[in-house]
Amino acid sequence: MQFDLQSIEENIRRYGSPLYVFDEEAFLENYRRFERTFQGIYGSYRISYSYKTNYAPYICRLIRQEGGYAEVVSDMELAIARKCGNPDDHIVYNGPCKGEALESFILNGGMANVDNFEELERILAFAGAHPDRTYRFGLRVNIDIGQGFISRFGIDEADLPAAFAKVAETENAQVIGLHCHIGRSRTEQAWRNRAEIMLELVKRYFPEGPEYLSLGSGMFGEMDGRLAEQFGKDLPDYEAYARAVAEPVAAQYAGEKKPVLFTEPGTTLINKYISFITKVVSVKHIKGKTFITVDGSKHNIGEICELKQLPVQTVHASGAAKAVENADIVGYTCLEHDVLYRGYTGQIAAGDYLVFGNVGGYSNVSKPPFIKPNCCMVSSTGAVIKRAESVEEVICTYE
Ligand SMILES: Cc1ncc(COP(=O)(O)O)c(C=O)c1O
Repeated sequence: MQFDLQSIEENIRRYGSPLYVFDEEAFLENYRRFERTFQGIYGSYRISYSYKTNYAPYICRLIRQEGGYAEVVSDMELAIARKCGNPDDHIVYNGPCKGEALESFILNGGMANVDNFEELERILAFAGAHPDRTYRFGLRVNIDIGQGFISRFGIDEADLPAAFAKVAETENAQVIGLHCHIGRSRTEQAWRNRAEIMLELVKRYFPEGPEYLSLGSGMFGEMDGRLAEQFGKDLPDYEAYARAVAEPVAAQYAGEKKPVLFTEPGTTLINKYISFITKVVSVKHIKGKTFITVDGSKHNIGEICELKQLPVQTVHASGAAKAVENADIVGYTCLEHDVLYRGYTGQIAAGDYLVFGNVGGYSNVSKPPFIKPNCCMVSSTGAVIKRAESVEEVICTYE
């Protein structure tokens, strides 16, 4: 999203600085294209949107209206998904530490994927206590797709026979789906591997076919070219991912009974469509190093700014901009490591604005009330998605 001074100043006057701006039209266009690409190959494909990535209810409701499911990992996220109008049978509940709502969620037809044996025992104990009800759920399996590290999530593939045997001992319990998610593995080959391994597992453990197969997340989404080049050349596009994942599933389930295939995109769907406008407070030169202090923080834009240089647009407001080289753009907090961007070279002065792109994921939801409350988020349509937090709201839970 590109911004001009007039629109920035008008928005800042209305909503304050800093400010998140959501590009709603472009988000929807991308969402539909992503979904179409997968459904074009496998009609029973469904998006299960990762709430942890950005649970702004306004955005979650848009996804619900589009027919998307919700992927949640805590009772808090489950409550948000329900508030956003999702019935339990349109919610996938993952995560290693599920809350008290788990039992009612399963009984309502929700899809819970068990992460560990303790959780499995917990569900089987529910089932034992209520022989008149049926408990249907999925298992998260921990597979090796060549990611080069040992993931801590799910039940080890080697322990699946024991898990299925345990469930078989309980008459009113049934495994209906299989799930996996492996972080830091966004290549096309990683997706081919996970589809192949998971399809082999469902063939072995569900002779009649599962009700669903959920392959987690971790695909590159659309992004600004300046960011894309930092991830390497020739990143896979949606077509490439859909061929890697949906084609083998379609081939295995060519008959009448087609399990629902989920992936759980978060960043893929939202990252590009939220920008963060922040105002330059000062430009300092200290011992040969330049620091541009802004009224935002690295906490506003999330961990990605520590790993990559985000695309940044400079909008001059001061008329006093001067050239700086290799400057750090630093935040309002008193942390030395509150750096939003390293190596900025360009014209800048106090009063100018910097707009960071690609900050939709793990940004507003990860912002702690540290030193300042969080700021406002508006949609390109003019709707307020989140109003700025007040001091009262930050302190009201402290006795
Ligand atoms: C189980 C699960 N699903 C989906 C996601 C969303 O991943 P991303 O934001 O990379 O799309 C995550 C992220 O950690 C996850 O743990």
